[in-house]
Amino acid sequence: MLKLLALLQDGRFHSGEALGATLGVSRAAVWKQLQELEAEAGLVVHGVRGRGYRLVNPLILLEREQLSDNPGGWQPWVFDSIDSTNAEAFRLMESGRAQLPFFVVAERQTAGRGRRGRQWVSPFAENLYYSLLLRIEGGAAQLDGLSLVVGLAVRAALFELGVTSVGLKWPNDLLVSGQKIAGILLEMSGDPADVCHVVIGIGVNVNMNNAVEVGQPWTSMRNELGRLVDRNALINSLNAQLHRFLAKHQQLGFSSVRNEWEAAHLWQGREVTLVSGATEIHGQVLGVDARGALRLLVDGVERQFSGGELSLRLRDDS
Ligand code: BTN
Repeated sequence: MLKLLALLQDGRFHSGEALGATLGVSRAAVWKQLQELEAEAGLVVHGVRGRGYRLVNPLILLEREQLSDNPGGWQPWVFDSIDSTNAEAFRLMESGRAQLPFFVVAERQTAGRGRRGRQWVSPFAENLYYSLLLRIEGGAAQLDGLSLVVGLAVRAALFELGVTSVGLKWPNDLLVSGQKIAGILLEMSGDPADVCHVVIGIGVNVNMNNAVEVGQPWTSMRNELGRLVDRNALINSLNAQLHRFLAKHQQLGFSSVRNEWEAAHLWQGREVTLVSGATEIHGQVLGVDARGALRLLVDGVERQFSGGELSLRLRDDS
């Protein structure tokens, strides 16, 4: 089915006869596969008598061959459909089949995971669903500020592809004009004080432009740039930026990029509400400390906060 999709991805008309000849199947078999594309991948195919078929929304598929040459020598694992690239990365690690570090990307996720138990909407061939699996040796200090550093790397990759208005929201959301364009979910297995494995999960809204049910204001690279974005180019840029930022973090710690992070922080100095379960704390954002914890001025006293379950909201009156 994906071979057929690769032929149709340009959005132009292709006759059933030509498609069948290229794939070595009958016209009836082409028609059946087109039905499957619509039913399984949610794509819309337009058929016109005498002209053939075309995809109503053109797309650019992931191409494994374009992803192998990256500065870390990270091995690419590319899937058409997977529950979650984070879950698959752990499975591959446990099975011993993959050489570390490696990354997993998929055309779609059927059970994409977001922070705080949320679902991550993952339509077919539209967005980036990426997970990098790393072995961390050096103890818990190597994890300090890691998710914030990843935010800087994702931001740099989006910049490189032309989305220059993107900023960060603590701990690691990426926003354009208050709308979410990317999110990061770090998951860990093993002993953080000794040797552990971390999956760096990154979701970027790349070509999504329909009003899908996301549950929060969102935008995509396509919405910002007004054109279709090649996810292979984005992955290559992301691999290069992650390689650069992770090396710096490993050698010099989070404090080496702390100023850079604060300069990219959209809510620096703003009045916010920090939400942790049912608890809400009001304060003014002072920045982050040398370990990446949020520094808030609460009732005239500075307090630090860290942890994956926390989230920030702007105060209505700020
Ligand atoms: C967030 O809630 O902001 C974090 C979203 C992280 C989504 C990505 S998509 C690739 C990877 N696999 C997952 O299941 N989740 C992350």
